Amino acid sequence: MAPKSSLTLFVFLSLLAVVIPILAVTGKPFPPVGWQPIENPNSSIEVVRAATFAVAEHNRLAQTQLVFKTVEEAEWQHIGGNRFRLVISAMDGAAAAAPPKNHTAIVWEILDIHLTLHLLSFQ
Ligand SMILES: *[C@@H]1O[C@H](CO)[C@@H](O)[C@H](O)[C@H]1NC(C)=O
Ligand SMILES: *[C@@H]1O[C@H](CO)[C@@H](O)[C@H](O)[C@H]1NC(C)=O
Repeated sequence: MAPKSSLTLFVFLSLLAVVIPILAVTGKPFPPVGWQPIENPNSSIEVVRAATFAVAEHNRLAQTQLVFKTVEEAEWQHIGGNRFRLVISAMDGAAAAAPPKNHTAIVWEILDIHLTLHLLSFQ
């Protein structure tokens, strides 16, 4: 058999696995350098998924009771996967009368066989 062609296929599929998500986020085949703003972050499933993850993970780690409301701002960068810098509006479930507050979170999304999300910071 031809291990070389299966390697070529593997490399090709790996490239596709990187380029397709980038296309989905930016509409461009190659990632630009630095943080790129994402228009209408509320309407991106990927951004909202990262934001709800950030709130849930922060709640778990910090024993808080924040309730995700909306994504106010989002920026994106391609470094070993996708990184999202998000301004998240959230209610404090432990202080029901308090108005929603903005939190800045950085979420790292790794597209491997599985999609995994990591919370890099939350303020
Ligand atoms: C996201 O939705 C919220 C509430 O619907 C809105 O206040 C906010 O401006 C929206 N953000 C953007 C960038 O569209
Ligand atoms: C949250 O961030 C949005 C977008 O930057 C801003 O318009 C809004 O005033 C902020 N809200 C609070 C409570 O700081």
